[in-house]
Amino acid sequence: MKKLEIVSSLTQYDQINELSEEDQKLILAAREVTKNSYSPYSNFKVGAALLLDNGKIITGTNQENAAYPSGLCAERTAIFWANSQYPNSAIVKMAITAKKNGQLAQTPLAPCGACRQVMIESETRYNTKIKIFLDGKDSILSIEDAASLLPLSFDSKSLK
Ligand code: THU
Repeated sequence: MKKLEIVSSLTQYDQINELSEEDQKLILAAREVTKNSYSPYSNFKVGAALLLDNGKIITGTNQENAAYPSGLCAERTAIFWANSQYPNSAIVKMAITAKKNGQLAQTPLAPCGACRQVMIESETRYNTKIKIFLDGKDSILSIEDAASLLPLSFDSKSLK
């Protein structure tokens, strides 16, 4: 028997202007697109912005449905749209934010498990890392890749 440890390391920024201009632009794009969220059930407006390796910024928002599970998170809306339009472009960075009643989430918004799994699929597919920014009023967290956000993620290759 042996005990194993999983360690993730995050960087915390107390103010958005501590980040590079490129990163700030991505976070501001995520904040801006929250206005397009369709979230009449939760009133929680989530915005995601991706920077692709072709230089394009792609955004997405959560889209809810009266049949609750039929909706989709902002992160997957953005990723699937990006992959549909630019199948040969990897995601380099991603910013995630949320607003409720027009106010930015107080603490950094962490993506749900399903979105983390989809981000990891993108890292595997393009053999790249996605740098992720979790936006909040109190602080912004960055993490070097999606795999660090979901240790022991499902990997179909382990079934071979
Ligand atoms: N939501 C996202 O868009 N991203 C996440 O990572 C977690 C949750 C959405 C789904 C739903 O529309 C609302 O937030 C409340 O759960």
